[in-house]
Amino acid sequence: MGLSFSNSTIEDLKSQINIVDVVGRVVTLKRAGANHKGVCPFHNEKTPSFVVSEQKQIFTCFGCGATGDAIGFVMKYYNLDFNEAVERLANEYGITIKRNHFGEDREKYYEINKEAARFFYRAFTEQKNAGYTYMRNRGISDATLKKFGIGYADEKWDSLYNYFKEKGIEEKILLELGLISESKGKYYDKFRNRVMFPIINTSGKVIGFGGRAIGDDTPKYLNSPENKVFQKKNNLYALNTTKQDIGKEGYAILVEGYMDAISLFQGGVRNVIASLGTALTENQTKLIKRYTRQVILSYDADSAGQNAAMRGIEILTKEGCKVRVLHVTDGKDPDEYIKKNGRDGFLALIDEALPHIDYKLNFIKKDVDITTEEGKIDFVKSAAKLLANLSPVEADVYIKKIAKELKIAEGAIKMEILGNNTVGHNGPSSSNRQDRQREMEGNALRGKRAIKDESDIKEINLLEANLLKTLLMSPILTEKLLDYDEVIASQLGRKVVDILFELYGLHGDFHLEQVLDRLDPEESESLQKSLDGIVICANEEQVFEECINTWRCNQLAEREQDLILRLSLADEENNEDAINQLTMELMKVQNEIKVRGGRT
Ligand code: UTP
Ligand code: MN
Repeated sequence: MGLSFSNSTIEDLKSQINIVDVVGRVVTLKRAGANHKGVCPFHNEKTPSFVVSEQKQIFTCFGCGATGDAIGFVMKYYNLDFNEAVERLANEYGITIKRNHFGEDREKYYEINKEAARFFYRAFTEQKNAGYTYMRNRGISDATLKKFGIGYADEKWDSLYNYFKEKGIEEKILLELGLISESKGKYYDKFRNRVMFPIINTSGKVIGFGGRAIGDDTPKYLNSPENKVFQKKNNLYALNTTKQDIGKEGYAILVEGYMDAISLFQGGVRNVIASLGTALTENQTKLIKRYTRQVILSYDADSAGQNAAMRGIEILTKEGCKVRVLHVTDGKDPDEYIKKNGRDGFLALIDEALPHIDYKLNFIKKDVDITTEEGKIDFVKSAAKLLANLSPVEADVYIKKIAKELKIAEGAIKMEILGNNTVGHNGPSSSNRQDRQREMEGNALRGKRAIKDESDIKEINLLEANLLKTLLMSPILTEKLLDYDEVIASQLGRKVVDILFELYGLHGDFHLEQVLDRLDPEESESLQKSLDGIVICANEEQVFEECINTWRCNQLAEREQDLILRLSLADEENNEDAINQLTMELMKVQNEIKVRGGRT
């Protein structure tokens, strides 16, 4: 999604609007000193902690940390992307804004796609044709076909090409859009004898097509190629039609196929979207998040579909979505299921959909025999890796579940999880096992934090181990580490780094053996164990940078929490200066986290 407006246009727009008015249209604001205050629209609260600064033209919520300028507010409040927010503001305030030429260019592509969609639609509706017969035979009603703008590309070689030629449209654009192809100086229609599914983005623009073969022709679906206006990774099929339903229901059902989406919609399950024949992407997830954070994955029943669901869970949860997985029990996909079992049947499946963790646990369980000892152990080991990423409360629920099901002690599972949080596959070393256990029992289960909060950590953590490994592989990186001295915080890690600095200073090089020689036996063993678990697959420098980036993101996240807390205190004291200063810093911190890819 390229920017359609220049910076000066944006600045111009911002100078003509007042954030107090923009926010004031939807949030009741009261003057409080130099600022305005109200109840935050982005989280649930009773006492107002949402502050708008007229002077700075920004808003900040001390409760949830939301902050931004007028455009940011409109994006967040109305679920819009940047360009849409700019357009909305400009319209609302009657301000004319200049688009980049880039934008105009795209308009032309959209227009041509729309014209093509109309052409296919006429061919589908105005006379008898194989496409219409095929879709009716698959049980799709006239109303549904119309709703999705389904069309037909006839079997001739040049119908669409001739149509556009008469209109004087350049071949170059038609080629780029993938509507025609060229061979030996002649042009041909790309889509022939196919049912045409126009793909429409959330602004209502036709961006591409999926064309289904009517018989057993291959490919089954022919899709528009990637081009200036069509990027699969940024779009979802049917979302333009179903976004209101998704908002209304409070969740989205994500399916694999065009036909699944259409069929569920017709069956009365309307809050549906389909990925465009590829694995779900981060951008698609962000798009979904504009409407809901609750997603039900409803992929095909075959193993390909189930594997795709595992990957889908990964990407959706990483973006902060709540995911459940629905399993089709009758027929191979949601389309077949709802045709046989109707809306009520499908709603029953939704009720039974598994939270993603249960789904993943089941997925692991398939490969082991939990009636045997080894099976139990293997299962708990894999399960622990999963649970290590959960919040302590969530983890606790699943630990209890697994313990009960497998008839093993909860403590054993907790140990396994803590082992996963330290140094790779080796788990806790026997020397401090008891310490850990005591700590755990005292704290219930605080997961990762149980270790991190300790002020004097002895053992090397995973991040440190990765860094040390890259240094040992490529000693020259030691020079870089000088700038990030605080990254290595554990006692052993510090000791190792000091040795490395010294050796590097003396010889400009070092080897693991030299380091081990200088450590006590336990330290030496502990270091080796930490390093053994780590395999550096990429270029060392890259891994080094990634480690530093991760560390920095963690630091920033901590700073962010700290700032939010300080803001609420400054707010209680009505300390204007402090509020302004903290807000500016909070924005900077949040920006850096975003730039570093730490969070969105
Ligand atoms: P499916 O084969 O499950 O398609 O592929 P479907 O939608 O259920 O179609 P029917 O019911 O067989 O008619 C799922 C999706 O993968 C993409 C399409 O987006 C399709 O909807 N796909 C599949 C392709 O892009 N090309 C193909 O050749 C096949
Ligand atoms: Mn199907």
